[in-house]
Amino acid sequence: MSSLNPYRPGRFVVLEGIDGAGKSTQLQTLVDFLEADGRRVVLTREPGGTEIGEMIRTLLLHQTMRPATEALLMFAARQEHVLQVVEPALLQGRDVVCDRFTAATLAYQGGGKGIPLCRLEGLADWVHPGLHPDVTVLIDVPPEVAAQRIARDNRQRDRFEQEDVEFFDRVRATYLRLAATAPTKWLIVDGTKSAEAVSTEIRNGLNRLLQVPEFQ
Ligand code: TMP
Repeated sequence: MSSLNPYRPGRFVVLEGIDGAGKSTQLQTLVDFLEADGRRVVLTREPGGTEIGEMIRTLLLHQTMRPATEALLMFAARQEHVLQVVEPALLQGRDVVCDRFTAATLAYQGGGKGIPLCRLEGLADWVHPGLHPDVTVLIDVPPEVAAQRIARDNRQRDRFEQEDVEFFDRVRATYLRLAATAPTKWLIVDGTKSAEAVSTEIRNGLNRLLQVPEFQ
């Protein structure tokens, strides 16, 4: 474990998974892991993370709209979030843990809703040129398992949670394809395991992927 090192550049760690994958239980694992390495950590989320982003989030989760509108609103919220929160934190040497980022748009609006990935990648290039997560942790669960968890929650479902298993199959397949193209930047963990087992897999995987050379 290193001592507090304000000079090391901030690391950008993103958590992804289909609805019901168990992301929220694991966010703290990510924060604890980075803090244990002597880092100051900013925990944030998308869509959201800024005042305007949270307003856009409310629209996205509850108002009916076309897939293109949805994608553009995701990137509108992201623009504010990157400029107001993510980049300033990273530049100050803080680590950023973000609950979803652009991979979610590729998976949900691309894979799930059929918007060509090249269009979304063009928007990503515009909104956050050169900014890519150091590691994206994907909690992978079959949509049937995720659906059972959401049903157990017994609360009003948002627009995305109301999508069917076929939609989440496409979202999941897109996440897995993205992860396969960049294995040094993605960590896939089996979200059907217990929360403790998932935490352990995340910690072990981050240790491997975020290894910092001694001289830093
Ligand atoms: P959350 O429930 O994980 O906070 O995310 C809110 C919902 O927004 C979730 O169903 C996934 C969806 N979403 C997209 O469809 N595209 C995106 O780019 C992001 C960030 C989230």
